[in-house]
Amino acid sequence: MIYLDNAASTPVHQKVIDEMIPYFREQYGNPSSIHKLGRFANTAIQNSRKRIAELINADSKEILLTSGGTESNNTAIYGTVLQRKGKHIITSSIEHDAILEPCKRLEKEGYRISYLPVDKHGLVNVDDLQNEISHDTCLITIMFANNEVGTIQPIKEIADVAHKNNIVFHTDAVQAVGKVPINVNDIGVDLLSISSHKLNGPKGVGALYIRKGINISPLILGGGQENGLRSGTENVASIVGFGMACKLAKEDMNQNIIHFKKLTSKLITRILSEIPQTSLNGHVEKRIPNNAHFTFLGVNGEDLIIKLDENKIAASTGSACSVRIQKASHVLRSMGFSHEQIAGSLRLTVGITNTEEEIDQTVDVLKKVVQELRIVSPYKTKYNF
Ligand SMILES: Cc1ncc(COP(=O)(O)O)c(C=O)c1O
Repeated sequence: MIYLDNAASTPVHQKVIDEMIPYFREQYGNPSSIHKLGRFANTAIQNSRKRIAELINADSKEILLTSGGTESNNTAIYGTVLQRKGKHIITSSIEHDAILEPCKRLEKEGYRISYLPVDKHGLVNVDDLQNEISHDTCLITIMFANNEVGTIQPIKEIADVAHKNNIVFHTDAVQAVGKVPINVNDIGVDLLSISSHKLNGPKGVGALYIRKGINISPLILGGGQENGLRSGTENVASIVGFGMACKLAKEDMNQNIIHFKKLTSKLITRILSEIPQTSLNGHVEKRIPNNAHFTFLGVNGEDLIIKLDENKIAASTGSACSVRIQKASHVLRSMGFSHEQIAGSLRLTVGITNTEEEIDQTVDVLKKVVQELRIVSPYKTKYNF
């Protein structure tokens, strides 16, 4: 299989697996236990917390361990609104469902939510943000990099606006961490979400960076683990794997970025020049290096994915699936795309294990299947708009 769906999830690094195994076999203690096995597990968690913190230049005391990006986002939103009096939240129209769904629920509970529009490249406008701020805005949550088209938002400028107005700023950085250097002190965010399985770590574990001095309320109550902010016996093996994944992501960042850029540049150059009626979506420069998102006019993206799968290539349209049924992309719609452009979209996201040969093979297959699909089934949408 040629795996080009690294934005959905990534293969677990062998060094990560090796690091995790002892925590299933010999080091099975509960980190809250007083005996030696418990203390050992607790130390492993604290060492991993440090590795996670180092990847974003945070202090390990600022890292809250969670079950992944979804929980980190929910904790950031609910944890903040439970602490603050304001009833207004500003977000963007292109966020992941792990932001949009909690916002929708809060809307039903009486909160006002502003969804900032984006331009055709998927960028929010900082002036629009400034104009939306009101006396009761309690939270701004805007993603670092979009999971479909890869566009990177002006995070530092957004943080500056938030702080000038004394508003907490959260960013969902699930797609950005490990793909671009992030220094939380330089950009000045208050809360930042990370997911382990997007950076060659195990699934079901992640973190929320919480700047010192920012208070959030816990959502999960019980034995008081994680300083009372998230109760429940820690998932030690996964936390250890996540820590190792962060250590590797930091050490290999520069060479990974070069590798990602080489592969996506090849994809972009070859696809745009060799397949007619094709365009690259998202911002040309302000994008994460591992993402290449295209529209093939006259083709249905879902059919394309099935054809690619038959040719042993794993790809995605990038928009959320609910029980494997593709939803029309709210991101592309917000970017002003037509139904036909949305239907013909395909996301190819590269990872550390991909090679140039795989990229060449993929483009060769794409050329063939796009042509076949254009002849066999002229554009028809399966999407429910
Ligand atoms: C931008 C973004 N936020 C949040 C999530 C959810 O992360 P997790 O799968 O760790 O819950 C994803 C996963 O696709 C994502 O791409």
